[in-house]
Order: sequence, then C-alpha cells, then structure tokens
Amino acid sequence: QPEELIKPDIPFLGTENSSLRPAAAGAIKSLFERARQEGFNLIGVSAYRSYQYQKEVFARHVNRLGEKEAKTISAPPGASEHQTGLVIDVSSPQVNYKLTQRFGRTKAGHWLKENAPEFGFIIRYPQGAREITGYQYEPWHLRYVGPTHAQLISQKEITLEEYMYVNY
Ligand code: DAL
Ligand code: ZN
Repeated sequence: QPEELIKPDIPFLGTENSSLRPAAAGAIKSLFERARQEGFNLIGVSAYRSYQYQKEVFARHVNRLGEKEAKTISAPPGASEHQTGLVIDVSSPQVNYKLTQRFGRTKAGHWLKENAPEFGFIIRYPQGAREITGYQYEPWHLRYVGPTHAQLISQKEITLEEYMYVNY
C-alpha cells in the first residue's frame, strides 16, 4: 500500500482505480497536456489497484482463459505493478478507449512511445519481450521510473528487467 495516493488532474474513464503516487500523478498530467497540444486526447483507464481489486481482476482472467494463459496478460494479486501506484493504463478515442494491442499501431500509440520517457514513463511490456517480462505486449501500460531511467531504457530499447540486472 503506497503511503500517499492522489487523483491526477487528467481525464479518466470512470472513477475507480484512478489514483497514483504524487510523482507519477504530476508527470502524467504534464504528459497528457503535451499530448493534447499535439492533437492526441489520451485518457486514463486504470491506475492504482489494491491487492483486493487485483485479486478480482486476475480471477476474471483465469475464469476466461485458464491460469497459464491468464498469467501472460494479468498479474496475480500482490505481483501487479498497478499496486505500486506508479502505473497507469491509458487509451484514446481511436480505439474506443479500450486496452487493446491495436492502440500501439495508432498515431497516439506511436506518439506515446516516443514521448512518454521525457516525462518519466516507459511502455513497460514491449512487443516481443514476453520471454523477458513474462507478459504480452501492452502498449497502454505506462510505468513511472523517472525521466533519467525512462530515457535510457527507451533509447536502448530494453525492458526494465534488462535495465535493472545490467549496469548501464
Ligand atoms: N497487466 C499487467 C501485467 C498487470 O496485471 O499488472
Ligand atoms: Zn496495466
């Protein structure tokens, strides 16, 4: 449970799970403002999730897909980055505000990948990195690591796992 969670001042789909730790909340506001200036209306979909909420999310995926497949798209309770308060899933009107891999092929998705690092966020689960991260491509899942780390990770086109285990 993060010590402090606040609601970022950004458009959000619904009101549930819409808080972040302060550093991430400030950064996402700046990122969304820049996006809007450049013509992209991003929207927040899911940010901080409690252990209990993640338990429900994960159980729904397991019911639908079975545990093995579910684990490639959803983290078990206690293992989701969403519980850190440093993560937000985002979407845009072009994909009907859905969390879909198609988002990564839209102009907004490309813009996000290029520009998120300046504001401290990385696309946490890149395409083709499932062997390393354990998860399928999630072009919508932004993880706050701060601008210095985010820009290095992005320039090197590596995952957070590779960045943490190798000394860059
Ligand atoms: N979808 C990501 C992996 C999560 O459940 O945290
Ligand atoms: Zn996510």
